[in-house]
Amino acid sequence: MQHEKILILDFGGQYNQLIARRVRELGVYCDLLPYGTGIEKIREYAPVGIIFTGGPNSVYEAGAPDVPAEIFSLGVPVLGICYGCQLIARKLGGKVTHADTREYGKCEIRYDTQSALFAGVAAKNICWMSHTDYVSEVPPGFRVSARTATCPAAAFENAAKKIYGIQFHTEVHHTLEGEKILKNFLYGVCKAKGDWTMANFVDEQVAALKSKLAGKKVLCAMSGGVDSAVAATLVHRAAGDDLTCVFVDHGLLRKGEAEEVVSVFRDKLGMNLVKANARELFLSKLKGVSDPEKKRKIIGEEFIKVFEKEAKKIGAVDFLVQGTIYPDVIESGKGASAVIKSHHNVGGLPSVVDFKEIVEPLRDLFKDEVRKVGTELGLPDSVVQRQPFPGPGLAIRIMGEVTEEKLQTLRDADYILREEIAKAGLNGEIWQYFAVITSTNTVGVMGDARTYEPVIALRAVTSVDAMTADWAHIPYDVLERISSRIINEVPHANRIVYDITSKPPATIEWE
Ligand code: XMP
Repeated sequence: MQHEKILILDFGGQYNQLIARRVRELGVYCDLLPYGTGIEKIREYAPVGIIFTGGPNSVYEAGAPDVPAEIFSLGVPVLGICYGCQLIARKLGGKVTHADTREYGKCEIRYDTQSALFAGVAAKNICWMSHTDYVSEVPPGFRVSARTATCPAAAFENAAKKIYGIQFHTEVHHTLEGEKILKNFLYGVCKAKGDWTMANFVDEQVAALKSKLAGKKVLCAMSGGVDSAVAATLVHRAAGDDLTCVFVDHGLLRKGEAEEVVSVFRDKLGMNLVKANARELFLSKLKGVSDPEKKRKIIGEEFIKVFEKEAKKIGAVDFLVQGTIYPDVIESGKGASAVIKSHHNVGGLPSVVDFKEIVEPLRDLFKDEVRKVGTELGLPDSVVQRQPFPGPGLAIRIMGEVTEEKLQTLRDADYILREEIAKAGLNGEIWQYFAVITSTNTVGVMGDARTYEPVIALRAVTSVDAMTADWAHIPYDVLERISSRIINEVPHANRIVYDITSKPPATIEWE
């Protein structure tokens, strides 16, 4: 089915993916394409509306990101946000001025509720600003539709031509009625119908996969993570027993996770799941290794070797399933950044599997959409709402050498942390939370005896995309319960500390 689509032209602002997620949440499919996308491609894409995002540049800089002038005469509604609105002003004959100071944060705003964009929104309102340049004169034929104390044209429009500019960010939740404004643009201005739902997505994908995979052999590497789980379940709906999933149990998953993979996918969903028990192999390869990068490398290589061995038993297949999601697609092709940690994913698999084609059923979806698809497919919350978990697993949460004893301690401590966070109802607010076994032993006293055991650290962070993070302000009484339960219930635990560092300068994981 051909969906109605919004085209978002990306000018490099930090909230760009957030705009796309908001549009999709409102029921309209959209893609984020680079601002340099040619006019022919834009015509071919046939959007019902176009959004220009914010960006770090100034429209007056030489070589500043631009759009083809024809974009304004396609008859397609345009909404420019921040840099996007300044670009509209500049290109259509208005004036953009450089302010001496940057305006950043929450700000009082007055909307003209006669505007289609602000229909049904309270006139006196709060929005979120982040800019230095501002539109000081709107282009001929345009009128101002919102003001703030410092921004004479916080919004402006040419309703007849359906071109709208807003200086503030509708997509961040600090803009109080931002969602309504975006909804007004999609439904009031672009006349979208809202045909993007995850139930539709599942039906369409299953139908498409059925014809693509009919009678073919399909292979999937199951990691226990959300993306591979949902990809495999979706493919299973279409391919049934023609799909084989291989799950490498490296013994570095959290308490109960490996068992859950088998119980959900093999027992409940009836998938053809091969479990490779490689716990001892991984432990023996990691023996005596304490350098984090070496650990990652060993785990990555061994994982591929074990998978290859299993894949050889299955033989040649037609399709290899990958759990690639939309942010991966957007990110690939962007400039390389410094390698802080060599992340291990299942990227090396294609080279060791005898297959003809890759199938990536989730490549158009954001993470929150992947979760919704999982729920739609009947996967339990414990799988679908699983927090991000590093490929090398618990090995990088044990500082220094990985041993079975430390793994056991870590699994138990981590389980208690997870249980108490859930009981306190905090799991929805915290991005990631886990325990770490440090390489420092300290003295304790238990009963009348001296103990000398590694310090256990707790880490919990809030974040949007893991690029930056803040430590979570967990209430003291919750921390107290976690600490006393770990000390009482976990052998070898004699001291617990809480990590209160943000990222940067720290990273989320300790290794
Ligand atoms: P850092 O520690 O770099 O983590 O702040 C950012 C996010 O990435 C996860 N992470 C990994 N994920 N393989 C992965 O697949 C890895 O080697 C790896 N190291 C860190 C981390 O859990 C956090 O969500």
